[in-house]
Amino acid sequence: MPRQPVLFGRPVPRLGSRHVSLIFVCLGLFALLSLLFSVPSDQVAATVPTDSKPKAGGHKFGIPKSLKSPWLKKLNPFKPPSHKPERQKNDTDGESSWYSDWRWLTMPFSSSITLDEDRAVLPVLGKRTPIYCYYDTSVEKGKGDREVESELLLAWRRAWWAKGFQPTILSPAEAMNNPLYEELQKVEGMTEGLRTDLMRWLAWDNMRGGLLASYLLFPMGGHDDALLGYLRRGEFPTLTRWEGLDDGLFVGPKGEVEKAIRLAMGSPHVGVVKGLLGTVQEKSDDPFSVDTNPKALAFYSARNIETKYSKIGEEITAARVAGMKKLNRLINAHLHLAWQNTYFKGISVVKPLPHHTTHLINPAYKLARRLSHCPESPLPSTCPPNMKKCTPCDDTKPLGVTTPAHYVNDSGIFTIGTVPHPLTMLTLSSLNSDLTIPFIRRHTDRDPWIYDLTNGISPKGIPASARVLKFKEIVASEPTSASSLWLQAENTAALSDSDLDWIFGFEIASEASYPNEEGGDNNGLPPMHDAKFGAVPEERELEMERTLLEKVKKVVLEKKERLSGEGKVIKEAVEAWNLADGEAWRFVRAWVGRGQVERRRWEGEERRFVGGMGSEKRRDG
Ligand SMILES: *[C@@H]1O[C@H](CO)[C@@H](O)[C@H](O)[C@H]1NC(C)=O
Ligand SMILES: *[C@@H]1O[C@H](CO)[C@@H](O)[C@H](O)[C@H]1NC(C)=O
Repeated sequence: MPRQPVLFGRPVPRLGSRHVSLIFVCLGLFALLSLLFSVPSDQVAATVPTDSKPKAGGHKFGIPKSLKSPWLKKLNPFKPPSHKPERQKNDTDGESSWYSDWRWLTMPFSSSITLDEDRAVLPVLGKRTPIYCYYDTSVEKGKGDREVESELLLAWRRAWWAKGFQPTILSPAEAMNNPLYEELQKVEGMTEGLRTDLMRWLAWDNMRGGLLASYLLFPMGGHDDALLGYLRRGEFPTLTRWEGLDDGLFVGPKGEVEKAIRLAMGSPHVGVVKGLLGTVQEKSDDPFSVDTNPKALAFYSARNIETKYSKIGEEITAARVAGMKKLNRLINAHLHLAWQNTYFKGISVVKPLPHHTTHLINPAYKLARRLSHCPESPLPSTCPPNMKKCTPCDDTKPLGVTTPAHYVNDSGIFTIGTVPHPLTMLTLSSLNSDLTIPFIRRHTDRDPWIYDLTNGISPKGIPASARVLKFKEIVASEPTSASSLWLQAENTAALSDSDLDWIFGFEIASEASYPNEEGGDNNGLPPMHDAKFGAVPEERELEMERTLLEKVKKVVLEKKERLSGEGKVIKEAVEAWNLADGEAWRFVRAWVGRGQVERRRWEGEERRFVGGMGSEKRRDG
């Protein structure tokens, strides 16, 4: 007989299924209610309109304090964990810190997960698929050759990095590490060409397959291109090459790579052919499947150079170093051109609350101008080898740069955003550096920046917390993350020119190489925004804006411990009043910071290879 359950000494009646579902409904309601109350207290402050009296004495600002009702947390049995999550590796950059977690889009405010006001939750950093190329360091070369090849490899690495890969250069050291290397030594009568090519294959096989590219192969297509997406996923069940790319790109799993090498070494043609592909002479023993139409890949093979850019081909034959330099410049120009053709609708330098943000967006605007101009090119009217048709760059009709107040989600537009700290925004929009708490509370709106930015994509009435999620999605999720760049307004220098080159994948010409354009330029400032987005400032106001921006930058960037007194109180008050704007700012700071840390770390690992090409070994065998 089943035992009768007993509670407080009394038998408890058996539960029928109706009782059970009632209990579940009650539990569900309870959980829902407790969720509502489990938002950390300062977020409650954001959602509860407050007009509570500031406390007499103390510091005069009531918003965070007066609503931090301690009983809310005590009452709630499902309160969030009281331990901060463990720190992760490499999770800081200067003042910024972050925590990578899959829940990043589940909560508008990072502090509900990190329990730390300053730590932003970012999406988990995906692993980049390695793409290998082989560079023979064992060949003796002159200094000029080494330098120009090193530049070419840099361009190659930059372009693939920008498309989300981990470009890695292999050397004979990797090939010698392969057990098959011994066997290769034993094959007699092999042409030098085939032997060199097989070294490349051995090096690749040593890395367990994946992607093997020529360093003359560059990605030149939209980030959303299907082939690039397939390559980024990094899962290659069969050994594949592409029609028209010759030996420019192979993908394949480890076992198949080894099989192809063995096949080539055993081929009866080793004494005649120049490369592994040459040994495949009959369809029956072809280890490759062949794909067609690699639209997004530009291959600067000898043949392509000869037929499409013959002038450069001749120069390379005549004087190799000078010719190769020109080829580098041509490739850079084509990468830039392909970018411009992807964002053919222009560049949008968003300017929310445009009345007093002209100086604020100026660095972003300058960058947009550099991107919109034609790159310097030895053959200006040519298209990349993978594009039969392109719109060659024409500096009389540069790519349009606009300054709308709202973000527009359009894959043909590249967006450059400048995210101000709430204190910066408030100082500028009120043209006042002596903010007081009563002024903030009575005369300013909450989260004005994020409202204005997202007004084009979120209907009126959507709360700031939902808007900040939308914003994070734009910054950090495909496809919008690839077609936008977000800068921290007070620290636009956080991204140096060379950092930007890695983000865009090509070298952006410096400002100096563009003479002042006629018209549109107002004292080096962006042209004024359209009046439909907001009032247009007067000359006098622009001047105040500039001074105030310089002043408030210092306060915003000052280390937390070093702020004190009134300045600290006001900054904290403004942050508490504008939780969503502050969250957006911290998110971008962390996002940019993590990107930088990721790249610097990888560059550090690869550094040995970038400078002194030729003499150094990468790894101990
Ligand atoms: C990142 O973390 C690793 C391992 O903890 C460490 O070796 C490396 O120096 C760190 N890199 C940076 C840039 O902080
Ligand atoms: C932007 O548009 C793309 C494609 O139409 C869509 O998938 C994405 O969710 C949109 N992003 C936002 C933030 O609205």
